[in-house]
Amino acid sequence: MENFTFYAPTYFDFGRGTETHVADLIRQFGGSKVLLHYGGGSIKKNGLYDRVVDTLKKADLPFVELGGVKPNPRSGLVYEGIELCKREKVDFVLAVGGGSTIDSSKAIAAGSLYDGDFMDFYQGKATVEKALPVGTILTIAAAGSEGSPNTVITDEKTWIKKGARSDLLRPKFSILNPELTCTLPPYQTAAGATDIMIHVCERYFSNTQEVEVTDRLCEAILKTVIYEAPRVIENPDHYEARANLMWAGMLAHNNVCGVGRIQDWASHHIEHELSALYDVTHGAGLAVVTPKWMRYVLDKNPDKLVLFATRVWDIPLDPGDPKATAQKGIEAFENFLKKIGMPSTFDEIGAKKEDIETMTDKLLKTKKTEGNYVKLNRDDVIKIYESCI
Ligand code: NZQ
Ligand code: ZN
Repeated sequence: MENFTFYAPTYFDFGRGTETHVADLIRQFGGSKVLLHYGGGSIKKNGLYDRVVDTLKKADLPFVELGGVKPNPRSGLVYEGIELCKREKVDFVLAVGGGSTIDSSKAIAAGSLYDGDFMDFYQGKATVEKALPVGTILTIAAAGSEGSPNTVITDEKTWIKKGARSDLLRPKFSILNPELTCTLPPYQTAAGATDIMIHVCERYFSNTQEVEVTDRLCEAILKTVIYEAPRVIENPDHYEARANLMWAGMLAHNNVCGVGRIQDWASHHIEHELSALYDVTHGAGLAVVTPKWMRYVLDKNPDKLVLFATRVWDIPLDPGDPKATAQKGIEAFENFLKKIGMPSTFDEIGAKKEDIETMTDKLLKTKKTEGNYVKLNRDDVIKIYESCI
């Protein structure tokens, strides 16, 4: 196991009705003037917006609001949010929504206390040294931003989607009420489940040896999603299944199952180029890319794929042909993704063969290789994109 530090101080308030605690939690974490930040309107349709506003008003907690975060959140709205926070002397950012809203909130929180351009954090030109506190009310089990130190923003000038990371950006609190996810369209539920699985895979596919505890945590989360995702797609109001999926989403990405090991992240970075260029739903893009990545790296480094097949998909090991066992595991994964309604080809997500070179150039702009389980060069990345056609 590699040396590591792990600091994940988010306070989680989980369960039915927990959104009513929001004003108390904001006060507990030092907020006295709030930016209420949200997405494209789902919270207005399902009544959550009214309930949150009502709670803030009853608690006499002043707030300003900024809606309109788009999936794959963009830099333009972040600039607007920073301006608003500075003008209104906001001292707490409340995200009500999914990963996109939370990531946009984290960007606003960091940008509000920074003199330069907030995109510096995403372009590797500066690190976050101060940020307003962020709290979240999560409405989709997916990105894990409710417990992660990460934020991903698309730069509208270059259409490059990049991440920034700082423990200062971990939410102070996250309210996780599984009931709030019952209004999700099945496609979003499935894309979220896929994202959760791939967050685990990015950590599971590691060459670090003797990491039994994190291997087993990863396998438990994967098996939970395999069990629960079809149950919520069949019955969107299944509270217990929604609850397990929601906590799995947090555990998959707050890094409790990733510490002490060299992680991969090639699938995510290859996918981010797709969502930046075509505005693909992140989890759906991963459903296309990750199985192709698995097939590509199988010849070069099969060991962990064999473990994935036997321990996660219960494929019996063929000791004479472990590669065939691994292949069956990948097939089981592909069948699962198909069953929950995820795409598997470029066509289905509107991606185009002629953009492969451009996406690869953007991906490898500042580095020679991508990923760690197998280090992929330009040629490898192109071949993976081509196998998605
Ligand atoms: O915008 P609204 O109207 O709220 O609609 C959203 C959006 O259209 C809708 N939705 C969310 N909750 C709902 C709902 N609709 C009905 N009922 C509900 N309860 O779902 C759509 C997707 O929302 P979004 O926030 O984009 O989903 P997700 O949580 O999957 O976030 C995706 C973003 O997170 C980034 C992705 O790259 C992508 O930009 N990621 C962030 C990470 C992080 N910060 O740690 C890690 C991830 O790997 C990921 O890259
Ligand atoms: Zn993801």
